Amino acid sequence: MDEAARAVLARNDRGGYTVPTDRLYPFQWNWDSAFVAMGFAIFDIDRAYRELERLVEGQWDDGMIPHIVFHAPSDTYFPGPEVWGTRHRIATSGITQPPVFGMALRHVHDAAVAAGRPDAADRTLALFQAALRSHRWWLSARDPHGLGLVSILHPWESGSDNSPAWDEALARVPPTTTTAIRRKDTGHVDPAMRPRDEDYQRFIHLVDVYRDCGWEPARQWAVAPFKIADVQMTGILARSTADLIYLAEALGLEGERAELASMHHALTTGLAGRWRPDLARFVSLDLVSGEDVGAPTQACFMPLVALHVDHTQLQAVEAEIKRWLEGMVVGLPSTAPYSQAFEPKRYWRGPVWAVVNWLLADGLRMNGALELARQIEQSTVSAIERSGFCEYFDPTTGEGLGGDAFSWTAAAYLVLSR
Ligand code: DGY
Repeated sequence: MDEAARAVLARNDRGGYTVPTDRLYPFQWNWDSAFVAMGFAIFDIDRAYRELERLVEGQWDDGMIPHIVFHAPSDTYFPGPEVWGTRHRIATSGITQPPVFGMALRHVHDAAVAAGRPDAADRTLALFQAALRSHRWWLSARDPHGLGLVSILHPWESGSDNSPAWDEALARVPPTTTTAIRRKDTGHVDPAMRPRDEDYQRFIHLVDVYRDCGWEPARQWAVAPFKIADVQMTGILARSTADLIYLAEALGLEGERAELASMHHALTTGLAGRWRPDLARFVSLDLVSGEDVGAPTQACFMPLVALHVDHTQLQAVEAEIKRWLEGMVVGLPSTAPYSQAFEPKRYWRGPVWAVVNWLLADGLRMNGALELARQIEQSTVSAIERSGFCEYFDPTTGEGLGGDAFSWTAAAYLVLSR
């Protein structure tokens, strides 16, 4: 299996960067590459650094690391560069994705140091500076009012495109578009496993709105019809910030360490305020309606990757997670099975994602819930061993779904099976 996982990464290598899978996702995706870099770090440190270096070729002058870098043309994906209409020297999308980058960089750095690589400090430093600029962008562009929570302006930014968490907010976004929609994804994967057409109309409406803003963060923030202060995004950002603090210490960068420490304080304080004891979950905040996002999705547990919760919170979270696992062949479902929105085969409305489990297990372990962390990791590894390196899994049957030969599932296998 280890060799097969490496073969998936080799097959999806396009020259220093890895596509998530052939045809369905034929470019470099932001958080996919961060996970892939951690997978490579197990057997090829140079290639691990390369993955991150190629991703930051797409970094914008304002610090944003886009969600897609279109290094080379492909006609198997929609929306391509012409729809985004951004101005970076390499074509990119105009939105971002969860900043797993800082976490990945620490992982790769530690592997490089352990292997005694003489280039570790220099290569890490260049990527550290890129990561720091992106974290500054997050705070200024996506938390302009200092809530200690960063917002997404598009469901695609969350990485959990059609999660029930966005249903209410997305319903307010008009389904009209100036861009002609020519979906390609449903030609590669069963449409019953993908977001619906109506979701795509709204996704593209948002792209049209932000492109009309010239992709300027302040203009986008002012007009955004979809704006959610997201606990998953904030949790991942806070965790990556902690990992950058570790690297700043390792590299002897005192000014940067202090700056990151104050970011970390703001983000962890913001996150802690999103705990809802009656739900045993953290909840996102819809900044357009002012309402909590009540949908029970995997995002509600993601703050564990960044926060040290107290004993009562940990017990409540463990009990809630166990409730979601009841009767499932593989967990953790991306939507609670008791929710009316639960669809075990449709993308982010129920299926299990190996990389989500990777983060959640990490957060549970960090908080001392060792047994549950191990259980989630083992069930992920067994699901992959049974069904292959597919994009995601049906929690009720363990069946592999979506795209196959998926890079981040291979990376998850390499890391979680150790
Ligand atoms: C897609 O196109 O399905 C992606 O999730 C957007 O990043």
